[in-house]
Amino acid sequence: MARSNRNALLAKEKKYCSWGDTVHYLEPPKFFERCSGSYLYDDQGVGYLDLQMWYSAASFGYANERLARVLKAQIDRLPQLACQYLHREKVELAEILAKSVERLFGQQGRIHFNVGGAQAVEDSLKLVRSHTKKNLMFAFWGGYHGRTLGASAITSSYRYRRRFGHFSDKAHFVPFPYCFRCPYGKKKADCGMYCLAQFEKLFETEYNGVWDAKAGEAEYGAFYVEAIQGTGGYVVPPQGYFAGLSRILKKHKILLVDDEIQMGFYRAGKLWAMANFEAVPDIIVFGKALTNGLNPISGIWAKEELINPKVFPPGSTHSTFSSNTLGTAVGLEVMKMGQKKDYEKVVVAKGRAMLERLRALQRSYPNVIGDVDGMGLALRLEICAGDGYTPDRALADKIFEEGMKGNLKGPRGKRMGLVLDIGGYYKNVFTIAPSFEITEKEMDLSVDLLDQILRRVI
Ligand SMILES: Cc1ncc(COP(=O)(O)O)c(C=O)c1O
Repeated sequence: MARSNRNALLAKEKKYCSWGDTVHYLEPPKFFERCSGSYLYDDQGVGYLDLQMWYSAASFGYANERLARVLKAQIDRLPQLACQYLHREKVELAEILAKSVERLFGQQGRIHFNVGGAQAVEDSLKLVRSHTKKNLMFAFWGGYHGRTLGASAITSSYRYRRRFGHFSDKAHFVPFPYCFRCPYGKKKADCGMYCLAQFEKLFETEYNGVWDAKAGEAEYGAFYVEAIQGTGGYVVPPQGYFAGLSRILKKHKILLVDDEIQMGFYRAGKLWAMANFEAVPDIIVFGKALTNGLNPISGIWAKEELINPKVFPPGSTHSTFSSNTLGTAVGLEVMKMGQKKDYEKVVVAKGRAMLERLRALQRSYPNVIGDVDGMGLALRLEICAGDGYTPDRALADKIFEEGMKGNLKGPRGKRMGLVLDIGGYYKNVFTIAPSFEITEKEMDLSVDLLDQILRRVI
């Protein structure tokens, strides 16, 4: 695209597009023209190696040919259908998803579809309310569940609520076991899971604000969790934490809602991220990678007793686009791909290889890269202010901006860029979510590009 065309479009964007979305985090915002595999290409044809894959929505690689074929075939055959009628792909997708939960968690349940992640969170909130008759929820510090009103109420960041009035059902936020920055100042080696004990304390007496021992009833209907925090900075909890949490919740008849929107579909090395930990959810919420970022489909799985038609009858929630034919066709193909290829094995192996490389990079910059960690291909790299600990948001921003300039040196001297995503409580964490199809060469290149940027900015 010629510079003058781009400037004209930018001027129009400034005038006609809302800035209420996340576009203007980079000034000027960037145009991309095409994508393939692990790369986005700008209007000059410069390739940007993408280490975030649309916040893990395009996990199976950009412009995945197999999924594109299925989508095109569905466009030719049954591109539209009101959701009050049935089509084969919806039913088969529900079956395959429900069976995956049965396999990993040993629970029977049903699937309920919607479109975006936050809408599925809304549906899950209705389900919790319908079952428990409670409208208050627990959620985590650093947790992110979307930006509709209901999802904002259980999302930790006040920034997303501040201008929108009073949220009477705002969650009670509980510290997440973020061991690198323990909210209680403890050390993982000998903390004895102090955070869990603190949560349990809430139920010790009625005077701690959540529990009526006489009635045997909590004021809270569910605890919304991400097995590995996404926007919170790909924070991996210690083993044993979720097992303990789920024991406490069960004892107090509080549902465990597992938000798998970002970590589901193999990102953390298992189809469902919570399967890495010893806890069984009552409700699972999913979205993003189910359609690899093509026609969106989100949804919830819930235990039979919560969602059977007697207790959650027709019309309990509805969206015109909820189980659209295009999305369900692609979702079904994604799940079939998972039956054919052992993504659990692939993601764990590639995750390990990538983690090793990032740890080697950390050894070159021990004071700037404070923490490197991850599970599967959900990896984190925490940027610090020269002491290996103090969060350095400004430096993280600089690194991100350098990647987007598209003037790094790629193979054979080609100009390249690097797409990173910043998350974390202090906005100093690179949440690294490469394509599952990333090659060894691309992993080497990722670290080389990161190294080039670090040399520039430090
Ligand atoms: C864990 C989690 N929950 C919910 C959402 C909201 O999903 P959506 O953006 O599709 O509404 C996201 C999106 O990033 C997420 O990561």
